[in-house]
Amino acid sequence: HDPKPRPVPGTAFDAVPPNKLDQVSVPDGYAQRVVVRWGDPVVQGAPRFHFTKQTAAAQAKQFGYNNDFVGLIPQDPLGFSNLLVVNHEYTTEVHLFPADQYDPANPTEEQVKIAWAAHGLSVLQARRDPVHGGLEVVPSRFGRRITLDTVFEVRGPAAGSKYLKTSADPTGRKVRGTQNNCSGGVTPWGTVLSGEENFHQYFANADKVTDPVAAARLKRYAVGTGASTRKWERFDKRWDVAQEPQEPNRFGWVVEIDPNDPNSTPVKHTALGRFKHEAANVKITADGRVAVYSGDDERFEYIYKFVSKGKYKPGKSAHARRHNSALLDEGTLYVGRFTGDSPAAEIDGTGKLPSDNEFDGTGEWIPLAAGNKSFVDGFTAEEVYVFTRQAADKVAATKMDRPEDIEPNPVNGRIYAALTNNSDRGAAGKAGVDEANPRVANKNGHILEWEEHRGDAASTKFSWRLLLVCGDPATADTYFGGFDKTKVSPISCPDNVAFDRHGNLWISTDGNALGANDGLFSVPVTGPERGHVKQFLSVPVGAETCGPVVTDHLVLVAVQHPGENAASSATPTSHWPDGGTAQPRPSIVSVWKKGRFGLPGRIGER
Ligand code: FEO
Ligand code: CA
Ligand code: CA
Ligand code: CA
Repeated sequence: HDPKPRPVPGTAFDAVPPNKLDQVSVPDGYAQRVVVRWGDPVVQGAPRFHFTKQTAAAQAKQFGYNNDFVGLIPQDPLGFSNLLVVNHEYTTEVHLFPADQYDPANPTEEQVKIAWAAHGLSVLQARRDPVHGGLEVVPSRFGRRITLDTVFEVRGPAAGSKYLKTSADPTGRKVRGTQNNCSGGVTPWGTVLSGEENFHQYFANADKVTDPVAAARLKRYAVGTGASTRKWERFDKRWDVAQEPQEPNRFGWVVEIDPNDPNSTPVKHTALGRFKHEAANVKITADGRVAVYSGDDERFEYIYKFVSKGKYKPGKSAHARRHNSALLDEGTLYVGRFTGDSPAAEIDGTGKLPSDNEFDGTGEWIPLAAGNKSFVDGFTAEEVYVFTRQAADKVAATKMDRPEDIEPNPVNGRIYAALTNNSDRGAAGKAGVDEANPRVANKNGHILEWEEHRGDAASTKFSWRLLLVCGDPATADTYFGGFDKTKVSPISCPDNVAFDRHGNLWISTDGNALGANDGLFSVPVTGPERGHVKQFLSVPVGAETCGPVVTDHLVLVAVQHPGENAASSATPTSHWPDGGTAQPRPSIVSVWKKGRFGLPGRIGER
């Protein structure tokens, strides 16, 4: 007698097959609805969205463009009332404006200002519908837009640094705006951390800086040379590095937003270092301090950890929020080194497992700076925080395959990182493979799992292994945690990660290299089904799957850049979600299970 094994709680659904449909596809028995789309009202009194008649003043009150991170913060124990915080990473100008209104070589000032207003974050209040399922936005005093015009307070050891002073801000403590906010994290105290990622691309003329030290710093962050794609430097000199050489140093930080207080001043936390932060997620250490994990998403960049000096106060009161936020201003910043346990000769670049049958090993956190003390030869602490990449270069940190989202698993305490891909791994003049990044020309990415020594986020030692080596399970260069590869969904280019209440990992993808649309996938990380990847949904043509949030009752995803095509063509390849010939609109989607008696059921349960 061989009873059918019970599905792992939270993952009992029929996988969505890979597809190229211009829709959000969900498993049988599930329903979906758009929660909010680009242009919808956020701030009370926001005007209705008119694609052909958009204004900067309207956009500054409406939901911004290219939603990425989604944070859901319940306001009651059952999660019926929630704050919803969403990042607006970047703008796709050829889709932001009607083709007959937008000349990429000569944008108008109003168009540039619309783009500034379409960046940043949105804070909304949203209600879970207990009868019909899904999440809906409710008009609320919490509604808030943060844009490239919102003033941020710079805090931590580099606040007031000479490297942060500009003609508009001689104090180096007040930065206008945030941009390229990619992934993020909800803190235990109910605020949101958000990573400023590809900030470099909006700047012009870094090549005009002649001082060799300053020029090398700009180059290490790939700050833009010549005219910028968006031509913002024509309308505000801060985007022109030749005129404002320190302005790029005011981006590339982790920012913190307090959605509970619509009048709060958002913060840039310099103690967490400056790089192309993908996200920032918190784990409390064994002795009650705050650790924050963050990746630098570019090829051959590093994984970082910050550990606070002071201790966390549980709670979400205004007092607790203020106390805990201040913890991020003083502590130790580390960078990760990952060492394999198999002979280097067995890591042959093909993805073939070494003879111990696992890509695994140990690692250590190398301190870069603590408070005003630097641990890096030739760098002051101030330089470590502002030019973190160069400091990390000095200490033989491990060059990773584009670290995207990193998040601690609330059930097993391990940390999971998405390494999205790295086409240059092993190329001429570039770093070769190592056990933590074991494939040359890594097209499909992998998932790294580590356990801090004694499970303590303050430890400086850890052990690690690869949970997934992504791609087509029919090919020999993939690994699904040792699970039967004939039973898994193909997965490519993992980007954002999340956990459900059971500790299953959920992975959203960006840039599927297997020819199908991107999607959201679940995978158990323990037990006999460890590595059993199943696709839960797919997104429309040209879109990236972001967010995600998985609760007992809801899955939320951000559908970013639907219809974006490699040619940057003004003709979008998608008309989602409005259909017909409509312009595609980046949107948040809620998915729920259709349960008994017409009431919503639980995600991933039969
Ligand atoms: Fe904005 Fe690293 O993705
Ligand atoms: Ca090994
Ligand atoms: Ca991302
Ligand atoms: Ca990405």
